Amino acid sequence: MKILVTGGAGFIGSNVVDGYIQAGHEVVVIDNLFSGKKENVHPNARFYDADIRSEELDEIIKKEKPQILNHHAAQISVPASVEDPIFDADINIKGFLNLLEAAVKYDIEKCIFISSGGAVYGEASEYPTSEKYLPKPLSPYAITKFASEYYLYYYKHQHGLKYTTLRYANIYGPRQIPHGEAGVVAIFMTNLLHRSPSNLYHFPDDEQGMIRDYCFVGDVVQANIKALTLGDGDFFNIGTGRETRTQQLYEIIFQAVKAIRHDLPDHLKTLSRFKARPGDIARSCLVVEKARKHLGWTSQTSLDKGIRLTLEWALQKNTTE
Ligand SMILES: NC(=O)c1ccc[n+]([C@@H]2O[C@H](COP(=O)([O-])OP(=O)(O)OC[C@H]3O[C@@H](n4cnc5c(N)ncnc54)[C@H](O)[C@@H]3O)[C@@H](O)[C@H]2O)c1
Repeated sequence: MKILVTGGAGFIGSNVVDGYIQAGHEVVVIDNLFSGKKENVHPNARFYDADIRSEELDEIIKKEKPQILNHHAAQISVPASVEDPIFDADINIKGFLNLLEAAVKYDIEKCIFISSGGAVYGEASEYPTSEKYLPKPLSPYAITKFASEYYLYYYKHQHGLKYTTLRYANIYGPRQIPHGEAGVVAIFMTNLLHRSPSNLYHFPDDEQGMIRDYCFVGDVVQANIKALTLGDGDFFNIGTGRETRTQQLYEIIFQAVKAIRHDLPDHLKTLSRFKARPGDIARSCLVVEKARKHLGWTSQTSLDKGIRLTLEWALQKNTTE
């Protein structure tokens, strides 16, 4: 298949590009390198340094004629969306509509859209949260993700564009950069490797930090491969169903780093605590039964193993830089 991956120079998108190429597909990448890096893009993928909001997009899709649109490009930060909801909507809504209009014009068969299970459900009363729960988004980022899911429903109804929405939990792994809430694994690991202290954000009644469902990027790649042919007109949680508090996560990363840097000072075990930021939610964990049933997908990588694999990548990156 010929697949266009937007955001294919970013953390998750570039891993998905590698997975598609490994599976024998032809891949085109569109990314404006806002947070992505050119060196993340697989050498066998055709790369366009372009903005999904630009007029150039029409020309690229007209020329490349992909069968599948895999949409990973986004403004990804919850705090940034709270700060500037207009910028967030410009990329996440206007950029997506620009893509969908071109998709219909040039007969793209299917869109795989990346939503956020960690954000759209808000502070859910059903917990852990399944797809049956109606999202109550609590940030502009979560709103643009949820609204995009409805746009897909409309484009299928009106134009016959097939789609599968993947609602990701908190994804971590190689190529994640240490910024934003979603990058907490990368932040903690980078800090520990540099022997720097870290911060923990928490709600008043919970000093251990927020609860999240951490899923390894290698497993997410497999979900994107399954979604090429399965799950039309539907949305799926992509996570592990396992909950981890920020404090626990930090301890796992601390132990993994300590195993190779024996002289890591113990005082780094102590985190500085700050109150949760606007848009933060206290707990998020996904029920992933639907993806198992309809996509034949489950996460395979334990948190300990995923952290080890991420650390191996970080160390290798340090030696090659
Ligand atoms: N990381 C997570 O835990 C997580 C969780 C839920 C959902 N998601 C979603 O997964 C997707 C990928 O996130 P990521 O963590 O890999 O982040 P990322 O920042 O590494 O990737 C986003 C990519 O989009 C590109 N981009 C941004 N604006 C663009 C524009 N206007 N035009 C073209 N390219 C643009 C960036 O340069 C970057 O390469 C996003 O849609 C994000 O909302 C991520």
